[in-house]
Amino acid sequence: MEVKKICCIGAGYVGGPTCSVIAYKCPDIIVTVVDLNKDRINAWNSKDLPIYEPGLQEIVEERRGKNLFFSTNIDDAIISADLIFISVNTPTKTYGVGKGRAADLKYVESCARHIAEVATGFKIVVEKSTVPVRAAASISNILSSNTKSNSSFQVLSNPEFLAEGTAVTNLIDPDRVLIGGETSVEGQAAIEALSNVYSKWVARDRIIKTNTWSSELSKLAANAFLAQRISSINSMSAICEATGADVTEVANAVGRDSRIGNKFLQASIGFGGSCFQKDVLNLVYLCEALNLPEVANYWQQVIEINNYQRRRFANQIIGSLYNTVYGKQIALLGFAFKKDTGDTRESSAIYVAKYLMDEGAHLKIFDPKVPRKQIITELQHPTITDCPEKARELIEVSGDPYTACAGSHAIAVCTEWDQFKLLDFKKIYDSMLKPAFVFDGRGILPHQKLLDIGFKVSVIGKHRENGGMFKSASSNNILLPSSRVLP
Ligand code: NAI
Repeated sequence: MEVKKICCIGAGYVGGPTCSVIAYKCPDIIVTVVDLNKDRINAWNSKDLPIYEPGLQEIVEERRGKNLFFSTNIDDAIISADLIFISVNTPTKTYGVGKGRAADLKYVESCARHIAEVATGFKIVVEKSTVPVRAAASISNILSSNTKSNSSFQVLSNPEFLAEGTAVTNLIDPDRVLIGGETSVEGQAAIEALSNVYSKWVARDRIIKTNTWSSELSKLAANAFLAQRISSINSMSAICEATGADVTEVANAVGRDSRIGNKFLQASIGFGGSCFQKDVLNLVYLCEALNLPEVANYWQQVIEINNYQRRRFANQIIGSLYNTVYGKQIALLGFAFKKDTGDTRESSAIYVAKYLMDEGAHLKIFDPKVPRKQIITELQHPTITDCPEKARELIEVSGDPYTACAGSHAIAVCTEWDQFKLLDFKKIYDSMLKPAFVFDGRGILPHQKLLDIGFKVSVIGKHRENGGMFKSASSNNILLPSSRVLP
């Protein structure tokens, strides 16, 4: 069959960009992205898209109203579609069995039930959300148990591998597209139909076809491997700081081995985002459910190192500021979980801010893409503070980096925004209290320049002699040893 109309349920970070690119690359296919959230749909139909991704605005403006539509009319979009993507959120469960680890599939299930209720004729239902292995079987089960005499379905798994911040590039030129389906004739025909959509712009040899379970597990495995690499280099950063090795040099030397490769070896304050932690936890839970405790423990360590790294960075700041940040002003540069996105879900900056607020620090926060309200909402969340009013008193959101830094004791770089590298650091230094500290949690600033200006500089994964400073040959900006080991 030929796919002529696509419906995508879920107009989020995945559904929105993915379907915009499909519409852009396939002008003959009508693509309708639907969501229960009216505000989000209104934003997709406005000049202010609900998410920021480089290049997305142009693509949406080019196709919107032609073959790309955003709507809250879910029923109509389902009824007229040949193929339906389920692209709704699958957060970690916050209640009941598997709380804190298992993926919450209530939104996926509700989509499946809704499709079964309103669809007529034959539909290909594509699981785009990241789900535990065998979720497609549950969707199939719900659909077949509720199928009316005039409808039938084939369920495929087509996980999304885009990375936020580079979503459009990733979608236009993907490393691979993965499609899993049943081995039956009907299943293979459905795989072929979806494959024909992607092949309008993706080379056929990049379209991988597997059975459904391999496809579902591959997505969890890919995210677990990526998260594991970050935890691996971050674990090395702790050894570097304690020994005199430099994590950038280690990463370069290790990454030059072609078997290892040089990507994803940047030490940092830990990974964030809505996916890595959720998907690794999901994998851990799956292993436990399958009675594979050794495998579960192995992957759990990826999360433990990530938590350790966030805590370690905050402790480094506290230790360097003479073991107290109470009443001190600290500028946080960056709040998004990575550069080129306004997404703050599970951002490491949230945890660094939390640990500093727990010690009574005043935070002045600047991020080029995260709105003030979003920063405050994140830091007033019950998992971050049990006293939202107190948190509110400790936070100030600044409109530019210079205001954030003025009057501060220290700067902590939490997101690797390119613009931070080009700041006027002399101007910043002059506006800060002395000694003026910089804690570079992303290793992006011009460290020698900062040292020459007079900053005390601490960089993740660089040797921290005498209590916590990055030691430069030309600098004597070295701190006294910390006297207290923080928890
Ligand atoms: P999101 O939270 O940004 O968007 C999900 C959207 O689904 C929301 O707008 C919500 O209102 C809507 N929704 C939920 N239930 C609905 C229903 N029954 N009917 C209509 N709309 C409904 O989530 P995001 O980030 O787009 O993620 C979606 C899935 O894709 C998740 O499973 C995630 O793990 C996966 N994924 C996310 C990536 C990312 O970079 N954010 C990358 C790859 C996969």
